[in-house]
Amino acid sequence: MSSTPLIVAIDGPAGAGKSTVSRSLASRLGLEYLDTGAMYRAVTHAAISRGVALEDTEAVAALAGTIRLRVAHGRTSVDGVDISESIRGDAVTAAVSTVAANSAVRQVMRDLQRAWGLARAGGVIEGRDIGSVVFPDALLKVYLTASPRVRAERRVAEVGGDVDEMEKAIIQRDLKDSSRSDSPLSASSDSIVVDTAGRSVEAVVEEIVTMIAQRRTAIGS
Ligand code: CDP
Repeated sequence: MSSTPLIVAIDGPAGAGKSTVSRSLASRLGLEYLDTGAMYRAVTHAAISRGVALEDTEAVAALAGTIRLRVAHGRTSVDGVDISESIRGDAVTAAVSTVAANSAVRQVMRDLQRAWGLARAGGVIEGRDIGSVVFPDALLKVYLTASPRVRAERRVAEVGGDVDEMEKAIIQRDLKDSSRSDSPLSASSDSIVVDTAGRSVEAVVEEIVTMIAQRRTAIGS
């Protein structure tokens, strides 16, 4: 084994299949997996439940810097309280892009994410800005995507609801995430764009495993 950290960045918009693909890829590679969306969701949940106004950027950033945030093994907790289910609820989903646009919050999250990666020999990290900002030197950067309709249909299959409404909500969140000034959602020029429409998780994981092997051969690691 080489000592080069094997950081795989998986970015992309909501419903592109990042979580399922990242989890499966990590287990295939024997690496740990970090869901950075859960981190932003946890800060949002903490702000809402403690009555901190989301527009009060300083107060939300102070909160982000003081809570004890743990995201591991598919569970998320803040100050020892498991909030894994509630961070997926509508209230957090509707508010998370506002918190994610807060630069001071992003700074705190980025530091935690880099520390996570550096403490390991590598890992699969999923988010919006992992390849572009958090780990610009990642071994492989993948940008998973699919049309808003396809992504909405997937989300509805998972959590229920109306496809048209879901599509509208997804387009709105995409817009907020890609138009913010700090680390907007976008495929960096050195990322490999993979459209997941009509493809199985296994096929996408297989393609990424092949790309990692090619990359390691190319850099001789
Ligand atoms: O699972 P889903 O794709 O719905 O979203 P998520 O990955 O849980 O991320 C929730 C939100 O967190 C996103 O809409 C972004 O606003 C924000 N986020 C971010 O700004 N940067 C990241 N690295 C990850 C998430």
